[in-house]
Amino acid sequence: MPMHELTPGDAAAAREMIEWALTRLADRRAVLPPATTAETLPALTARGIGAEAALRLLVDVVFPTAIPPDHPRFLAFIPGAPTVVAAIADMALSPAMIFGGSRIEAGAAVDAEDAALRWLADAAGFPASAQGTFVSGGSIATLSALVAARGERYAAARRQVIVAGASAHSSMAAAARIMGCDLCAAPPADDHGRLSGATLATALRDRDPEDVVAVVATAGATNNGAVDDLAGVAEVCAARGIWLHVDGAYGGAALLSPRTRPLFDGIERADSFIVNPHKWLYAPFDCAAVVYRDGARARQALTQEADYLDAISDGAVGNPSDLAIHLTRRPRGLPLWASVLAYGTAAYTEAVDHCLDIAEYAAARILASPDLELALEPALTVILVRRLGWKSKDYEAWCRDALRSGLAMVMPTKHLGETMLRFCFINPLTTPDDVDLVLDGLG
Ligand SMILES: Cc1ncc(COP(=O)(O)O)c(C=O)c1O
Repeated sequence: MPMHELTPGDAAAAREMIEWALTRLADRRAVLPPATTAETLPALTARGIGAEAALRLLVDVVFPTAIPPDHPRFLAFIPGAPTVVAAIADMALSPAMIFGGSRIEAGAAVDAEDAALRWLADAAGFPASAQGTFVSGGSIATLSALVAARGERYAAARRQVIVAGASAHSSMAAAARIMGCDLCAAPPADDHGRLSGATLATALRDRDPEDVVAVVATAGATNNGAVDDLAGVAEVCAARGIWLHVDGAYGGAALLSPRTRPLFDGIERADSFIVNPHKWLYAPFDCAAVVYRDGARARQALTQEADYLDAISDGAVGNPSDLAIHLTRRPRGLPLWASVLAYGTAAYTEAVDHCLDIAEYAAARILASPDLELALEPALTVILVRRLGWKSKDYEAWCRDALRSGLAMVMPTKHLGETMLRFCFINPLTTPDDVDLVLDGLG
């Protein structure tokens, strides 16, 4: 079939695309603002438009309409900023065509992913029995961990509950809905909505631990960066025999910095944790790690069984397919592994420290400004800022204009019902000059 044969025309188009990719990686400042209108996309036809035209259309028409989160002044949501090696390795994954679900098929690819998972498990102080896998995102990673936590209790007669702090990510509510459980929000321990040992004990006071699927602690809240009191929460969970899951989708990267590592004390007692390398660990989308203290227990809950799968089942250590809600998977942890292999773990610590520095710089500048106010004590690299005299519509208008002019991608958020601006710094390419530009633009 012609579409599976590489013609000289296809090869030339592919080389052009690789050139485009390298140019883009070399200048990530060049991408704001996006093209606001897309040309009408051509219709899908019986004969097609040819490889060259199709690939060129991606580069010329489709890609420029997106707002890439790796621009140094993309400060909305939780951005992403893949390293060069991670981006290029990811680009090669599709033609390499590796089935990452089983050890038999994937060969050394799974060993490499395991090495990256071990690096993360070591950062959290997890034991040698720990096992994990990479999935598409934090939502699936947490859902997988909670299904593992529930184990055989899916057949329980009484309604089950997941307990989380007030600042838990929306994926907890989604997981509870999907699992047919209730989500119980523990009372906030402070203005950040942190979960503490004491507030967790209050939430659990009248509950039978058997009815509690898991407690979810957040290590880096999306909206305000806060890390829950993991040590206090772990103590309460251990005393009641309840599974503790830690959501470090964003904040888990800060395990790597000695400056922030103490905030995570207690994570080593968790039963599972997640961290999204596609956020602050510089892998491309989509890559989230889920790590279990006891891999065998997770596999028991998650392994799919079928006659045709017996041949690839690996009883001793299990396959990546057995550790989350998935079967077919690309080995999406490979780009992370290749990147850590290439640059070294110290480069990751330095990058995290750079972002902590930039967040501190931004906070200091806000404190020194007569027009701006920190709405909340900054946590990790999230900053909530109030512009004196502004109402919701002013923030919205400023954000729209900032994007239109190419100044920045910033989005308003709410804290305790009040609209304000939120900055999240995870990009090592962000400089103090970038912060100055954005803050001066608010004056
Ligand atoms: C703290 C936290 N947990 C979970 C998630 C969900 O991750 P994903 O969007 O990859 O599903 C996010 C994503 O923003 C997050 O910030």
